[in-house]
Amino acid sequence: MTKPDQHSLHALGIETSCDETAAAVVEMTPAGGRIVSNVVLSQIAEHSAFGGVVPEIAARAHVEALDGVIAAALAEAGVELRDLDLIAATAGPGLIGGLIVGLMTGKALAAASGLPLVPVNHLEAHALTARLTDGAAFPYLLLLVSGGHTQVVLVRGVGSYERWATTIDDALGEAFDKTAKLLGLPYPGGPAVEAAAARGDVSRFNLPRPLRGEARPDFSFSGLKTAVRQAANQLAPVSQTDIDDICASFQRAIVDTLTERVGRSLARFRAEFPDIASPTLVVAGGVAANEAIRSGLEKLCAEHGMRIVAPPAALCSDNGAMIAWAGLERMRAGLVGDNAQSFAPRPRWPLDEDAAPLVGHGKRGAKA
Ligand code: KG4
Ligand code: ZN
Repeated sequence: MTKPDQHSLHALGIETSCDETAAAVVEMTPAGGRIVSNVVLSQIAEHSAFGGVVPEIAARAHVEALDGVIAAALAEAGVELRDLDLIAATAGPGLIGGLIVGLMTGKALAAASGLPLVPVNHLEAHALTARLTDGAAFPYLLLLVSGGHTQVVLVRGVGSYERWATTIDDALGEAFDKTAKLLGLPYPGGPAVEAAAARGDVSRFNLPRPLRGEARPDFSFSGLKTAVRQAANQLAPVSQTDIDDICASFQRAIVDTLTERVGRSLARFRAEFPDIASPTLVVAGGVAANEAIRSGLEKLCAEHGMRIVAPPAALCSDNGAMIAWAGLERMRAGLVGDNAQSFAPRPRWPLDEDAAPLVGHGKRGAKA
């Protein structure tokens, strides 16, 4: 690579917080960002026999794969460490074993190359991805829907977040995964449930819409999962048509309840920021890949006069590019301290440190 001009910065991003070993090189210019390389090695095959992520297997797989994944990201970008301006590594939240592997590798590379290290909050990386892909301007509202989190967050700026809503029990991705598991569908459950739902009858089962109509903007999904279990038990053994119909009814209930709940935060955003030029909802996290959910949210945003930005599915799920970008954003905002070498991984690391924990929230804490 030719040496970048002074106005562009390049970062290596390292992501190991859950079941993806990922590394990427991203460029930041005054005009925006560009992904130069993005390598993601999924561990789905290692975990699928267990129906979920096994922390010990994940940590070991990260140890084995990370060096190769980083080398591939650098090679694909045609750069060496000395061409870069910083190294960013996920430091939390997530599974402690994986976080240690990624952050220690980042520290070692930074120490060896003399580059600054930026420990990145994985949730912040999800929150800022829409600025890399779509140049989203602050402030915007973020809906983060993943295997470990279901939150609405006001993004005021880099490092400035206010949680407006969260789940009181299961995360949305978790609800998809558990529903898939009890119907005998493969892990991860989201794509399998979506595929089955496409063939099914949305009106065959009348499933609950948890918290619907309540003024508080939070989410709840565990009752829905329980209702699915009851429906499946009553029919047992379930046929393929039963599975398809349950998935379709489940997904419809999810879209209904999610849009009703998120609508409350959209109304609040419009009321608190009546004058911004392009009010925006950013959708991030693996569940944002779901087409039915995307189109339900598109319709909802149109009703509220808001623009919706949903990064491409590959950048909604875990990747190194979002970590590199978050590191660059923090660098540009002057938020990079000089104590990164002593930064300890944080399995729990809420975006909004001031938000009160809700009952049951974060009990799994493994995925983000
Ligand atoms: O953000 P992500 O890749 O990993 C973390 O949780 O950090 O999200 C994974 C979650 C899983 O629960 C998976 O089942 C869900 O996203 N997911 C989906 C779809 N694709 C992935 N859920 C619903 N529909 C999908 N198409
Ligand atoms: Zn994530």
